[in-house]
Amino acid sequence: MPVTVRQAGREDLPAIIAIEEASFSVPWSHQSLAAELDNPVAKYYVLEGETGQVLGYADVWLIADEGQLANIAIHPSARGHGYGETLLRTAMEALFQDGCTSMFLEVRQSNAPAQGLYRKLGYEGVAVRKDYYSQPVEDACIMQCQKENYQWFSHSR
Ligand SMILES: CC(C)(COP(=O)(O)OP(=O)(O)OC[C@H]1O[C@@H](n2cnc3c(N)ncnc32)[C@H](O)[C@@H]1OP(=O)(O)O)[C@@H](O)C(=O)NCCC(=O)NCCS
Repeated sequence: MPVTVRQAGREDLPAIIAIEEASFSVPWSHQSLAAELDNPVAKYYVLEGETGQVLGYADVWLIADEGQLANIAIHPSARGHGYGETLLRTAMEALFQDGCTSMFLEVRQSNAPAQGLYRKLGYEGVAVRKDYYSQPVEDACIMQCQKENYQWFSHSR
């Protein structure tokens, strides 16, 4: 199914909030999700399906030459079709173009789908933050992808 990735706008907030709340036990507040639209260091993207419905979003920050994946989620009914990968590649490649040399993120130790995505794109675990998450309490794995380790998309795969 053809999909489009574009910059998020205020009109996307209801869909972003619904996906956030369907995806996380401790979702970001509506205010925090909205504030990212005005965050000067953020790039906020949505992925929309054929009929224009928002299926997911990604929010990345660039501070000096360091990138951070702040948030990413795909609607539960749309997972496993390559959309998360498409979104994250778009966001990371935009930051690399803007001078990012290294990306960081935090992920729950038990979140195998997300870690699978991150490793596929070139991230590796660099540290553990003990009891970082609540509901349930769980360690965070800090992952890093240096620009030279990024796995560019290859049609031959
Ligand atoms: C993580 C998430 C964004 C992935 O999005 P997605 O669209 O389902 O993932 P994709 O279909 O693009 O998969 C890309 C790669 O991720 C990995 N992956 C995806 N689902 C996986 C699963 N269930 N188990 C293991 N690896 C998985 C694979 O490496 C996959 O590549 P492949 O298809 O070549 O094997 C999605 O699962 C999600 O929204 N989860 C809830 C929110 C969340 O956990 N966000 C991350 C917080 S740190």
